[in-house]
Amino acid sequence: MSVPEHATVTNIRPPASPVQIVPSVLPADYSKLGEEVSALEAAGVDKIQWDVMDGVFVPNLTFGPDVIKACRPHADVPFEAHLMVVNPDAMMLQYLDAGCEMLIVHAETTTHLHKTLSTIRDAGGKTGVALNPHTPLSVVQHVLDLVDMVLVMTVNPGFGGQAYIATMEPKIREAAHMIAESGLNIDLEVDGGISPDTISGAAAAGARVFIAGSALYKYQGGLTAAVTELRRLAEAALAA
Ligand code: DX5
Repeated sequence: MSVPEHATVTNIRPPASPVQIVPSVLPADYSKLGEEVSALEAAGVDKIQWDVMDGVFVPNLTFGPDVIKACRPHADVPFEAHLMVVNPDAMMLQYLDAGCEMLIVHAETTTHLHKTLSTIRDAGGKTGVALNPHTPLSVVQHVLDLVDMVLVMTVNPGFGGQAYIATMEPKIREAAHMIAESGLNIDLEVDGGISPDTISGAAAAGARVFIAGSALYKYQGGLTAAVTELRRLAEAALAA
């Protein structure tokens, strides 16, 4: 596999990245977020995603960096901030300082995406680029050397509990192909409507990192059983 000139040796993609089950904190009990974060870690999640919303880019308002900082001591798993905000450059580094390892910016909110990603990397953070359902993969094509994860949204962002948009599966497949062709070590994440009924399709299309909110919290058997079942279904789809 040819490695693009701009790729650094450490970016060479491993044979197949492992399945990761990642909760969205959106449905958690905000009156006891520290305990909720500890419970998610105990349930076996691989990392935790904070859906940061500004009420402008999406019609909802959620977590500032101080909330995440307060929860950081309650778990050891990595935190990532999904920045659903119109101006990520303004505050994004505060989320690194709050204890997030990765910052995910939306391509739709970054006039200078290359600069934004470079700034995060220079500050020691990992980078993610999220694409709303209508946004083509071409927006990240020329900055892949600065990207640690591509997030294909399978809902329109703003709220949990929405229906999975299955027509995003060709886009997930295209993203997996683009990443493989790049020879770079880039994860492929999906977010929105991931449940026992939908995770297999997303995994078969090439996703490896799965954000789940309502499906985890509504699962009859509890958080641990939900994480275990989602992981089993994703891995079975990969083995098929
Ligand atoms: C959308 C949010 C949700 C959340 C997951 O703005 O990003 O996708 O993380 O919610 P569920 O899993 O309930 O669709």
